[in-house]
This record gives sequence, structure tokens and C-alpha cells, in this order.
Amino acid sequence: MVSVILCAAGSGTRANLPENKIFREVCGLSLLAHVLSAFAPFAEEIVVACRAEDEAHVIPLLAPFPQAVAVRGGATRAESVQRALAAVRGEIVLVHDAARPFVPAKVIEDCIESVKRFGSGVAALPVTDTTACVIDGKIDRIPPRTTLFALQTPQGFFTEELRAAYRRAAEDGRHDFTDDSGVYAAYIGAPRIVAGDRANRKLTFPEDFAPPARVGFGVDTHAFAHRAEFDRGIARCNLNYIRLCGVTIPSDRALEAHSDGDVAVHALMDALLSAIGERDIGHHFPENDPAYLGADSMELLERVRKMVYGGGFFVQNASISILAETPRLAPYIGQMRQSISAALGGATVGVAAGTNEKLGYVGEGRGITAYAAVLLGAL
Ligand code: CTP
Ligand code: MG
Repeated sequence: MVSVILCAAGSGTRANLPENKIFREVCGLSLLAHVLSAFAPFAEEIVVACRAEDEAHVIPLLAPFPQAVAVRGGATRAESVQRALAAVRGEIVLVHDAARPFVPAKVIEDCIESVKRFGSGVAALPVTDTTACVIDGKIDRIPPRTTLFALQTPQGFFTEELRAAYRRAAEDGRHDFTDDSGVYAAYIGAPRIVAGDRANRKLTFPEDFAPPARVGFGVDTHAFAHRAEFDRGIARCNLNYIRLCGVTIPSDRALEAHSDGDVAVHALMDALLSAIGERDIGHHFPENDPAYLGADSMELLERVRKMVYGGGFFVQNASISILAETPRLAPYIGQMRQSISAALGGATVGVAAGTNEKLGYVGEGRGITAYAAVLLGAL
């Protein structure tokens, strides 16, 4: 019989959420509900270690799983596991952190199989960073990277062996173990590893809970100014060119604007700001603020990009569509794409341009409208 211990008795302090992170919904389910569903097909018994104050909230989540029970956790993870072990009846036990909601079925299966064949099975991934032992702020040694693995959960063992290992650790007063494989290695033998999975990451910090992608959409319109208005000093812009996506494009008519009138970049900035839940460019760069008179929109875009990064996101791709009866934009599409891609840190950028078939204000040549959509990924 296979039993599972789900460690859910932490407080989730580093996640800095209003609730314990095990109750936070990601992809439609709380972390605890994710791990219960993931292990239920493989386990005849599930023992959930939780804090006393979370019990009332945990018990309803166990209802769909008749094999699940809750036990009181302890002050440390090791203590929580030890308490849960006392309730375990299965011959094999897998210990898993509720903070790893995306554990794939294959990893669970492999751990169980490894316990049956070798007595232990610990999900592990080769590290990709060079990893050093640091003492007093100085690198003491750098073990060869090929020997280094990051240990995940589940970690599976024969229940009696893990119980004996934890008992001995408690007798020795050792509280320095951060996972079960460490306790097993200290008292029983070398645990065997099985292939973990990048998806099986532990959600620890606030950004780990951010949705993996965000979408944003923005629109902007600028009117062409009349020559007479320039002459009277009413319109404030350049006379013989327009700027689109940071590219200067010759035009016999100019766009009226407080800034450089880059209508495409303005639509793009609104798309970026809305994707991170911010207010629009009118709020961040007010038209009546003299600081933005004749402003280079690409500089404003850089400020918006920094806000996007600050929010924990990068731009995966941007799609810009410009409606203009005049000037002809086709010769500038490549430059516009390059200019925006460079400004967005190498994002894939598409720029489309078209006329409005002489319909409406665009078709009558009275102005240009730009639309932009963006997709942000979590950093
Ligand atoms: N855990 C536990 N008992 C404890 C401490 C932690 O069962 N006394 C569990 C957590 O609920 C979590 C897992 O061990 O699922 C991994 O720990 P961690 O990611 O550190 O979670 P927390 O301790 O809850 O978070 P933090 O350290 O940020 O407070
Ligand atoms: Mg912790």
C-alpha cells in the first residue's frame, strides 16, 4: 500500500499573501487541491500535515478524497513529517510539499517504482548554474556541476525505514534537515534519485504566484494638423514628417500632438500598462505637463518597459496595426519592427499598416489610428 504525506503545515511567510499559500488558487485550484488531485490516483492513504489554525479550511478540501486525513503539523517541516509518519499505515510512503502544485504523474509513478526496486526514490534535477559552497561570504569550493542536483519532492521510502531515520534524528536532537532524503541519508543509506521536472517547482515568493502570462491592448488616434494651424502656432509638431514606432517617416502633413505624436508607440504603451494593471499613458505622462512637450515617445516607452519589468514581466511579443490613408507606410515596416523589438528587449514584433478604404476619419485623411496588443511572460 502506498501512502502520501502532504506537507502543508508551513505559514507561507515568504509568499507574503493575505492567506496561507497552500490555499492560494493557481490555474483554477488551490495549491492543496492540486496536490490532492495529483496524488489521489496513486495513494490509498493521504496524510495532510497542517497548522491547527488552518484545519477548518483544510478539512472541506479533503472531502472529495475519502483516503485523505488531516494531522497537526509541527514547528518545522521535519517535525510535521514526523507527526504525519505516526499516522501512516502504508508500506511505502511518499512525502511531498503542498507548495509544489504542478507535480507530473510521471514523477510520482517513477518515485513509487524506484522505492519498490531500490528502497528509495527522490525527484531531482541537474542544476544548470555553477553552484558553490560559500563560507563567510567567500567561495570555499565549487563542486563539479555534473555531480550536483536540486532535490524536489516527492521523496519516497519504505515507511519503516523513514520512520526509523526520523526517530534517530529526533534522538540526536538534529533539526538541520530540510528534506526527507537528508534524514534518510544520515541514518539509513544513500537515497536513489529519479528524474524530477521543471514544472514541479516550489512556489515560495510572491512572483511565483503571478500568472504565467498577461495580455494587453491599446488604441490611440492623432489628428493631422492643418498648415494654417501650424502657422498660427496652434498645432505643436513637426511639419514635414511623422514618427511611427520611433521611425521618422516623411509626410506632407504632420500629426498634432503634445509629444512627438508617435501614435503607434502610444497605443503600445497603453497595451503594456493595461497588461500590468496600470492606468493609461494619459495618467502617467499628462498632456498638460510641460515636461512632455515634444517628448520622444521612445523614451517614454523605455520608462513603461521598466514598469513592466518591475512588475515581474517581460514582453514576449507585440502586435501593432496602423490605419493611415497617408503617408504610405509599407517601405518602413521593417524599420518599425526593428525599432520596437530593440526597445522591448528583443521581443517578437509584428507591424501591419493599411488604409481605411477612404471610409471615416482615417479614410478622409484626417488622422491616424494605431492598435497594439502585447503578451507578457513572467520573469
Ligand atoms: N511545511 C510544513 N511544516 C512546517 C513548515 C513547512 O509542513 N512547519 C511545509 C509547507 O507547508 C510547504 C513545504 O513544507 O508545503 C515547503 O516549505 P516552504 O516552501 O518553506 O513553505 P512555508 O514554510 O509555508 O513557507 P515560508 O518558509 O515562506 O514561511
Ligand atoms: Mg518554510
